[in-house]
Amino acid sequence: MNSSKITRLLFVCLGNICRSPAAQTIMESIITKQGLTNAFECDSAGTYAGHTGEKADPRMRHAASRRGLDITHRARAVRSGDFDNFDLIIAMDDSNYDRLYRLAPSIEAADKIHRMCEFFGDRFAGRDYVPDPYYEGQEGFELVLDMLEEGCENLLGRILKQEI
Ligand code: 4NP
Repeated sequence: MNSSKITRLLFVCLGNICRSPAAQTIMESIITKQGLTNAFECDSAGTYAGHTGEKADPRMRHAASRRGLDITHRARAVRSGDFDNFDLIIAMDDSNYDRLYRLAPSIEAADKIHRMCEFFGDRFAGRDYVPDPYYEGQEGFELVLDMLEEGCENLLGRILKQEI
């Protein structure tokens, strides 16, 4: 990463109302705490457009607010221009990854796509996706937030060390 450049991160799930807006907000919070707001921009999007314009699911907003996080994002669908506008595109599960891969306009664009599970550390090592909490109870939302906190910390660390 060039120190004078803004690094743009896009987090992607299916509906853009649970996992990816939470990932965006967690990453923004970590970036703010580290004094790096001038160096990064974060956004999120869904591979499914049916929730476009909606706020995040109230269950996710509630779970996040108990951790001091305010999710304000409004859902939008992924678009092909995202591959020009973002440096890294982080998918929550294999289905998101496959949809993104098919959307990518070039091999270089496809190289920007990663899975969040690549960045899991001690706690979630071996887990291979961020599970969809939409049809789950409260524990599902807490698990997603725990995974995203670990994944985002490690993702930022890898970017700062220029390992990704
Ligand atoms: P997300 O969760 O992909 O984490 O935002 C979902 C939200 C909505 C639906 C599925 C998953 N849905 O089927 O409407």
